[in-house]
Amino acid sequence: MVTIETPRSPRSRKHAKWEKWGWLYMRYSGVILLVLIFGHLFINLYSGEGIKAIDFAFVAGKWADPFWQVYDVSMLWLALIHGTNGMRTIVNDYTERETVRKRLNYTLWIVCGALIILGTLVCVTFDPCIDQNAVNYLPEVCKG
Ligand code: HEM
Repeated sequence: MVTIETPRSPRSRKHAKWEKWGWLYMRYSGVILLVLIFGHLFINLYSGEGIKAIDFAFVAGKWADPFWQVYDVSMLWLALIHGTNGMRTIVNDYTERETVRKRLNYTLWIVCGALIILGTLVCVTFDPCIDQNAVNYLPEVCKG
């Protein structure tokens, strides 16, 4: 018979509930990411002219359509939270000192939040049209 040892640091019931939601998030976001990531790879690298078609205009064309903005922002949020929560699990499994564990986890969520804010801003505020006035403030090397 296999006997499972009592965990080193049993946590509260409330904490166990949070862990359950984190675990469920990994499963559900994994299924949605499977569709989003392979859809993304198929559209960008395979369909139409494939990888040769990818340039500034290709990206600008996609982000002119609200469908692709929502698609890309969803992929960004789901993957970043999924990856960060997965890293949190690894940190919790491997760190020995409580202060190190907490600092690493805080850092992970701060970086995740910053990337989510920046990435979302890029997707929703992207404007492919360069300012008509740009020639006046571009560095010399870009003129002519
Ligand atoms: C194709 C889409 C993906 C699927 C189906 C998927 C599925 C999963 C599942 C089910 C788990 C939980 C494993 C467990 O608890 O034993 C997991 C863990 C994890 N995933 Fe994903 N994932 C995907 C994409 C990603 C992406 C894009 C990232 C990075 C941004 C990522 C990073 C992680 C990490 C760091 C873990 C924790 C591994 C561990 O606990 O050892 N995954 N993934």
